[in-house]
Amino acid sequence: MTAASSSSLLGSSRIGSRPTISRLHSDSLNPSSISFSSTLQGLSLSRGSISWEEEGDRKSQLEEYLFIYVWQIFRVKETAIFTWNRFSCHAQNMDRVEVDLSLSPRVNSVKPSKTVAITDQATALVQAGVPVIRLAAGKPDFDTPAPIAEAGINAIREGHTRYTPNAEENGLSYTPDQIVVSNGAKQSIVQAVLAVCSPGDEVLIPAPYWVSYPEMARMADATPVILPTSISEDFLLDPKLLESKLTEKSRLLILCSPSNPTGSVYPRKLLEEIAEIVARHPRLLVISDEIYEHIIYAPATHTSFASLPGMWDRTLTVNGFFKAFAMNGWRLGYIAGPKHFISACNKLQSQFTSGASRISQKASVAALGLGYAGGEAVATMLKAFRERRDFLVKSFGEIDGVKISEPRGAFYLFIDLSSYYGVEVDGFGTVNNSESLCRYLLDKSQVALVPGDAFGDDTCIRISYAASLSTLQAAVERIKKALVTLKPPVPV
Ligand SMILES: Cc1ncc(COP(=O)(O)O)c(C=O)c1O
Repeated sequence: MTAASSSSLLGSSRIGSRPTISRLHSDSLNPSSISFSSTLQGLSLSRGSISWEEEGDRKSQLEEYLFIYVWQIFRVKETAIFTWNRFSCHAQNMDRVEVDLSLSPRVNSVKPSKTVAITDQATALVQAGVPVIRLAAGKPDFDTPAPIAEAGINAIREGHTRYTPNAEENGLSYTPDQIVVSNGAKQSIVQAVLAVCSPGDEVLIPAPYWVSYPEMARMADATPVILPTSISEDFLLDPKLLESKLTEKSRLLILCSPSNPTGSVYPRKLLEEIAEIVARHPRLLVISDEIYEHIIYAPATHTSFASLPGMWDRTLTVNGFFKAFAMNGWRLGYIAGPKHFISACNKLQSQFTSGASRISQKASVAALGLGYAGGEAVATMLKAFRERRDFLVKSFGEIDGVKISEPRGAFYLFIDLSSYYGVEVDGFGTVNNSESLCRYLLDKSQVALVPGDAFGDDTCIRISYAASLSTLQAAVERIKKALVTLKPPVPV
């Protein structure tokens, strides 16, 4: 075989990290003129290092075989290394590729829930063995009443496990196309806010407010307009303040009665005054969050805002089963209102979820069937809540510098402890707002409460009395001690 013919085996040069095999001049073929080079580290052969014993053709044939042999080894090695390189480059590139971590401005504009954060912190402490009394979360400490739970179990047994058209089973005074049933009242509210607000619209929210309202407004690119109320006025909205804050951008007013976090209940007369103002502003709609409707302490009574003259057309009434029926895990809420707005909520919901849990709907129908205001089952819980409220109002009323507005509904006490602000505590720092006071109380007395600033009022803290009377008694003792340490009473 001639050198020329052998060049066809070797001639092509190769690219990249693969080895190149070159024969410089076919006529100058001798061991020292051929080199194998490779970009592969440590791999460099020179035929000059091989001693040749054969002569003539035989030598050149052997030489050719050797070429082919070495070439084959190279190819196998080269392929293996090429594959490895590609794999490792790919792996390295995967490490190196920087993921764009930016989030939508919508997410960045929303604050996380402080109630959830404090509840989680208290739970972590309990799990670590710290005997924390948790009065932060707004979850009833009762079990779902047996007839409701049974209805849920039967719904599964009877095969009610497929989709339902929304509002199939509601038994309410609105027609089915005027109601959307959702996975909780929170979903009902956020869908309504998203459905009716345009960017730049204003959402009027009396403070103290439920933590989610302003964040929901922000999610809709609307602006929350906070309307402060005062403890001396039982945290009820002053209609004159509402009137003064209305502009052509005002789109929504969110009312919550009975209120979370204050427990205040709007008397009918005040709602009528508010309704008169609303009626003068054609763009203004009202979301009336009535989720605590059945947790109300006589003589207080509940008035549905939509029932007031002229308000049905512009009110979206929200309710749910979580609070009164101790059904937080069942996740069912609903919104009722004029078909035009409800269809819009439904349209959004159809892209958020394929429907509310059918089993929970069956259980909720049973809840509605318990009788007026939840019948005996709810009355029993209400009695316990009332007893706890009375105990807390009396106990905190006896502490120096505490301001209270007696709650008429829900299961929260929102008390003003701002007279304890401004105190320097050794090893802790200064207690100068609701957040530092709650941290101090968690630290010193191991009681978890929610700072009022989460609800738009930094002078107060929220105590949830969805806990047994004995738990509340222990909590009050601890809080009293911690407050006395903070500010010893001045002797008279
Ligand atoms: C005033 C108010 N509205 C709505 C909700 C949300 O209810 P759900 O758990 O049914 O979504 C809550 C829950 O704490 C609430 O306090």
